[in-house]
Formats: sequence, C-alpha cells, structure tokens
Amino acid sequence: MLMVIVLLVMVVGSLLFHFIAPWHALPLASNWRDMDKTLTITFVITGIFFVVLNGFLAYTLLRFRRGQGERPAYQPTNHKLERWLTIVTAIGIAALLAPGLSVYADYVRPPSHAMEVEVLGNQWQWRYRFPGPDGKLGRSDARFISASNPFGLDPDDPAGNDDPLIEGSELRLPQDRPVKMLLRSIDVLHDFYVPQFRARMNMVPGQVSSFWFTPTVAGRFEAMCAQLCGVGHANMRGAVVVLPGAAFDAWIKAQPSRSAPAQADASSPVDVGMALAKSKACVACHSVDGSPGVGPSWKGLFGKTETFADGSQAKVDLAFLMQEIKEPQSRVVKGFPPVMPKSELTEAELAALAAYIESLAK
Ligand code: CUA
Repeated sequence: MLMVIVLLVMVVGSLLFHFIAPWHALPLASNWRDMDKTLTITFVITGIFFVVLNGFLAYTLLRFRRGQGERPAYQPTNHKLERWLTIVTAIGIAALLAPGLSVYADYVRPPSHAMEVEVLGNQWQWRYRFPGPDGKLGRSDARFISASNPFGLDPDDPAGNDDPLIEGSELRLPQDRPVKMLLRSIDVLHDFYVPQFRARMNMVPGQVSSFWFTPTVAGRFEAMCAQLCGVGHANMRGAVVVLPGAAFDAWIKAQPSRSAPAQADASSPVDVGMALAKSKACVACHSVDGSPGVGPSWKGLFGKTETFADGSQAKVDLAFLMQEIKEPQSRVVKGFPPVMPKSELTEAELAALAAYIESLAK
C-alpha cells in the first residue's frame, strides 16, 4: 500500500511541478517556434507514458497485493500483448523522433540569402568574423593563427582582407535578417548557445559546424558555452545584441578588418591593458577586485612574493608578469591548477597587460 501511495504522489507531484514551477523557458526571440513545439510534443508523449506506466504499476500493486487481492496468473508469453506493446512503443518513439528530425533538417539548411557569421571559440573566449563588402568570408585555418592573426586568416586569400573582425565576446546582429552561423574551435569542444534563440551547436576543433536562425526581437541576449570545456567553462559567456538593420549596417562598417586594422591606440598602456584583459578574456579567470577565481586575483598582486608549486618564490614585477603570461605552464603558482592557456600576444600587448596589473597593485 505504501508503494502505491509513493507512486501516486510521485506522478501527481511531477505533473504539478511541471505546470506550476516558476522555471519556464525565456521568451522566444528567433524564428524557431518549431523548437518549442517539438519540446511540447516530447513533454506530452513522455508525460502520457509516465502517467500510464506508473498508474498501471500502482493498479497492479493494489489489485494483486499479497494475501488480499487476486492471485496473478503466471504467463511467460503472450504474443498478442507483445504485438500491441511493440506497436504502441514504436509509434511513441517515432512520434518523439520525427518532429525533431524534421526541425533539425530545417535548422541546418539556411535560406540562400542568409548572412554568414563566423564564431571562433577557444578557452575561454569568443571572437566573431563577418564577410566584408565582397560578401565572402576569406579562407582560414588554425595553422595561420598568431598574435597578429588571431582568426587564422589565410594570408594568400584576398577575400579575407575586408572581413570585419570582432575581438571580444559581444556579437551584434541585424533584426529580422537570417544569419548562418559557422562555428570553429581552436582547442577543445565548445558549444555556442543563446537560449532565447532556441539555437545552439557544438564547436568541434578541426571542422566547421553550422546552423541558422533569424533574430526577431531587438535587445541583448546572453550567449553561453554549453559544453564543459575546462575550469573556465562557467565564465565563457558572451552576448548577442540584436539591432535594427540600419543600426547594424552602420556598426559593421566601423569594424576593423585586415585591410583596415584598428587604429593604433594612443591611450596609455594601462588602458590598452585593461581593454586587452577584456578582449582576451583574462578577466574570466582573474578578478580585479580581489574576489577568488580560477586564477590569482590581480588586485594587489603586483609587488607580492608568490610561491610556486615547486616551493620556489619570486617577487611579482613586470618581467615576472610578462613571463607568466607568455609561458603560463613554465611555473605554476602554488594553490592554483595548471590550466592557464597560452595567449598569442605581441610584446607590446604583454607589456600593456603587465602595466595594467601593476596599476591594480593598490
Ligand atoms: Cu567553452 Cu564551455
């Protein structure tokens, strides 16, 4: 009897939780209403099976309970019943799979006029590239990646010269225009995911995966990495800002490209370093306010004496910082995991970052 009550409480509780729990999907902001419909179909089918199977279990426990109920008959085979169960299960599984397969087929088949956007992921940051005025994304390859070519553009392909290059985690897209996302990773598995767009896709090193969507609502949406990609995974966050078409066109024209690089920054090294810390995603692991993170906080770091895993010590000065950023694995500070990725930085960028960290000494 107790098991019957437990089963019924579980079934009723699950249904109530589904309908009255405060956690619901964020409002849809893309064309993918079909994703939501597919999810509803899955919920309905699995929900019906869940209620029916547990209800049947509760019924048999009650009806055939020891000593009081009817005695069950031993029936090792029942071909008629097996046939029906096979048919009903097959229909249920087909109904679960078919809508998903059909939506997925649309999801990876973009309209021919969709604008291509490349997303480049690495531990633990995002970069984006658009086709330039020629409408073509230049060829790229991981072997071309360097400090001065973080996207790995093929130096021999002129189509890449005018591609707007977006450093930093914020992507801007035009409202109501379909975009085809091309996803690359240069180290491990990542996954570009924007919940409101109902759109996501794994980013697999060595291949370009793709999907498409049309942003339908202007605004700012959080983009996140949806594959566990190391200790900095939780900090691998970005944003997609959806703008009215004209505002987007004005913005994209102002973005740097290989043929029109960003103007050399006339501001102080500290400001350059601060901008780098953001665009290279250092701040994902190193706080600047003393709060704990994956790596040491930069607040008050400069001038401190650090102890390394091997017990040796050194005072944190500019040379120390530049060396640690350049070769993060050569000496690991005690108490921190040896996970800092190597960044492709020029000497000037290294010096600017170190100067920024120095400015946080107090
Ligand atoms: Cu990248 Cu998780």
